[in-house]
Amino acid sequence: MLVIGSDHGGLELKQAVQAALASRGMAFDDYGTSNSDSVDYPDFAEKVAGAISRGDAELGILICGTGIGMSITANKFPGVRAALATDEFMAQMAKEHNNANILVLGGRVLTVELAVKMVNIWLDTAYEGGRHQLRLDKIAKVEAAVLAGKS
Ligand code: RB5
Repeated sequence: MLVIGSDHGGLELKQAVQAALASRGMAFDDYGTSNSDSVDYPDFAEKVAGAISRGDAELGILICGTGIGMSITANKFPGVRAALATDEFMAQMAKEHNNANILVLGGRVLTVELAVKMVNIWLDTAYEGGRHQLRLDKIAKVEAAVLAGKS
């Protein structure tokens, strides 16, 4: 299952991304926001990243104005690897090297056309594993040490 969320700054792009997901037959749950009222991005990052962290969903997409606030918040959650991407290469690497389980986009930074391409690339790219897994294991080790108050 894929879960998606945005603030008001990412709403328009989120709606375009949802249409693209639907057109490739991909099911998703929308965790809001649902109108253009000003809201706080951490509330929506918490919903999406929380679902990934708990194992209730495998993949997530978060969109705010720049993508920065969503990234900062989402990466507080254990097990979350949220990647802010601004072009097609970064979207590919986010999966291939980082196995990002959340793709973060900026609604005020990207055209709809580019963002949709990036989402499709991220979904279609396979994680390479191998040497990259050693690095993800190190991230998990750092995370565990921080949580245990040992780093
Ligand atoms: C909201 O105005 C804006 O700050 C937010 O969408 C995002 O860009 C934060 O990082």
